[in-house]
Amino acid sequence: MPPFAPSARSKVEPFIAMEVLADAVRREAEGHRVIRMEVGQPGAPAPTPVIAAAHAAITGKLGYTEALGIRPLRLAIAEHYARTYRVSVDPDRIAITAGSSGAFSLAFLAAFDVGARVAVPTPGYPAYRNLLGALGLEAVAIETTAETRWTLTPAMIEKVHAEKPLAGVLVASPANPTGTMYSAESLRSLSEVCDDLGLRFISDEIYHGLVFAGTEATALAFSDNAIVVNSFSKYYCMTGWRIGWMVLPEALVKPVDRLAQNLYLSNNEISQKAAVAAFDPRSLAYLDGVKASYAVNRAHLLQELPAIGFDDLLPVDGAFYVYASVRRFSNDSVDFTRRMLLEAGVAATPGPDFDSRRGSGYMRFSFAGSEADIVEAVQRIGGWLRRG
Ligand SMILES: Cc1ncc(COP(=O)(O)O)c(C=O)c1O
Repeated sequence: MPPFAPSARSKVEPFIAMEVLADAVRREAEGHRVIRMEVGQPGAPAPTPVIAAAHAAITGKLGYTEALGIRPLRLAIAEHYARTYRVSVDPDRIAITAGSSGAFSLAFLAAFDVGARVAVPTPGYPAYRNLLGALGLEAVAIETTAETRWTLTPAMIEKVHAEKPLAGVLVASPANPTGTMYSAESLRSLSEVCDDLGLRFISDEIYHGLVFAGTEATALAFSDNAIVVNSFSKYYCMTGWRIGWMVLPEALVKPVDRLAQNLYLSNNEISQKAAVAAFDPRSLAYLDGVKASYAVNRAHLLQELPAIGFDDLLPVDGAFYVYASVRRFSNDSVDFTRRMLLEAGVAATPGPDFDSRRGSGYMRFSFAGSEADIVEAVQRIGGWLRRG
């Protein structure tokens, strides 16, 4: 490598969603109205008790906190597991992180050595494979299909592991971009096959709370070896607060504590104090109202997108995305998405972000915005497609 060149490990793929976001912002700055369905973030603000707690925190003294996070928040999260899932979690096993994104780097560093192979489903969230690669780990993409409702099965893991040993498996349920959820039984069987084969199971539960079909299960109910990652970003409407958490197997608590101490000392104290108020009953009542508006958006898209020609949609058990085939209109979803932004004024994310081989036939719509925007977006796209 020439002197002063960037490291090879920094050559991660860009996140196309963020590039579409930049294009959408540019169009808006030029005076065009753009309906924003490209990024996965709630249109609604954080609950009022969270904002009030942040105000209170900022007027007091702020400093470093314990690297694993403030005790009241770790306790509140443990209570959340008892209340929501009837699962008892020792608060000492909970680490507060900078969003779930912060949790992943700690989890990967604590659980795996350089060169370890970690299975991830495709289509899937791109940062998994990019971060694994940057840390010197190998992301092993396993393609899922409609046949297994776009989920990994124990048989797939056994097969890939037999070909060349894996060290871990990472799944999200509900998933981004597919929206599919693992039933409690399928999550249990995945976690059991991982335990049997000695593979670390990482369960990304960031879309819990946003489930429209079935009931979400936590991997904590099935194994003490699993790492469970979660966040205040999605259900709790707190993307910009950069706060999340991880529940760790006991043996990984100290390693994660040491890594956190050295990587960033502590998380932002304002966000930690504010996040305690996310579990306030008034916050939860508000957040359920926000979720109800997503349910209306979801129903609208599931009915209207097929009517304008998107007749191949993946199931949307949870999260706030519709992953739709665009093959009827184009074999190049990057170009299709770009034209849809310029000509119809609707921003969405092309599939290659989530699936490098098959993604050119797909596009992801986020329905976390307002009901009026979702209705208008479908009208605009329908009119644009009819004009041809
Ligand atoms: C599946 C999944 N995991 C993790 C994240 C990261 O979110 P955050 O770092 O805001 O918690 C996202 C964000 O879109 C996601 O879709």
